[in-house]
Amino acid sequence: MMLGEIFNQALAEGWSTGHFNFSESDQARAICEAAKEVGAVAFIGTSEGEARHLGYGVAVALRDAFRAELGIPIFLNSDHHKSVDSAKRALEAGYDSIHIDLSAKSFEENLAGTKEIVVLARANDREINVEGELGYLRGDSKIQKEKIEVKPEDYTDPEKAAEFVKKTGVNRLAIAVGNIHGISLDEPNLDIERIKKIRAAVPIGVALVLHAGSGIPDNQIKAAIAAGIANIHINTDIRLAYAKALRDALKETDETTPYKFDVPAREALKTMVKEKLKFFGARIKTG
Ligand code: G3H
Ligand code: ZN
Repeated sequence: MMLGEIFNQALAEGWSTGHFNFSESDQARAICEAAKEVGAVAFIGTSEGEARHLGYGVAVALRDAFRAELGIPIFLNSDHHKSVDSAKRALEAGYDSIHIDLSAKSFEENLAGTKEIVVLARANDREINVEGELGYLRGDSKIQKEKIEVKPEDYTDPEKAAEFVKKTGVNRLAIAVGNIHGISLDEPNLDIERIKKIRAAVPIGVALVLHAGSGIPDNQIKAAIAAGIANIHINTDIRLAYAKALRDALKETDETTPYKFDVPAREALKTMVKEKLKFFGARIKTG
């Protein structure tokens, strides 16, 4: 099963896949088990920092091991890889999907670097799914202590999105529509009309991705999916669930065996992923 088919099915049927970050094997296991229990594919990702911590080769080996053990489709993505070099590293390690995020650079540099990765991803009959990013997403995956303001120029322009997709040949596009990474002090206010305009401007086979899915009210998530989002990225919410359960567990016990004291953290993460996937309506293609 190809990743692209799943996004197409999600768009056609009005639901979304979920993408979840990990930096430890336990977290990858929790996400993959959650996906299996819900009946969805597992789409797992490492940012540059998460991959540096875990090791690109280890991430690939974990994917392979969980595929064999759980028997479900599992796809590994290089989340927000911010240089052509780091994206190449993930590609060479054997990732299934590359998110090349050059959105902080000029439109021309973003276009050229993203295209370079698309060409490599399709070389030698490979069909690695590539995500580009256009528009500027602020924040990072934590609880924000200061107010972050989304500026008018941050938003993805539908016409530029169409040009970017056409010239790069990406399989999916991350867009900035009022979303901010992490839990912001103010409630996010997604520009749903803009999602619809981008959806109308970009070919149907190119999936639209909503990053920064943590802390967005449920009604806005539902509206974003209805407007054509086929993949939603979640990191802060699962980090918080994991960290809180781990802190609580360590407070209550003098246990020193990691595989014993980290069980509640893994379970909390798994519960959160299941809730998100169910809410997104995620499922595996059936016939
Ligand atoms: O790429 C990762 C996601 O966009 C995570 O965003 O931490 O706001 O859930 P989040
Ligand atoms: Zn993101």
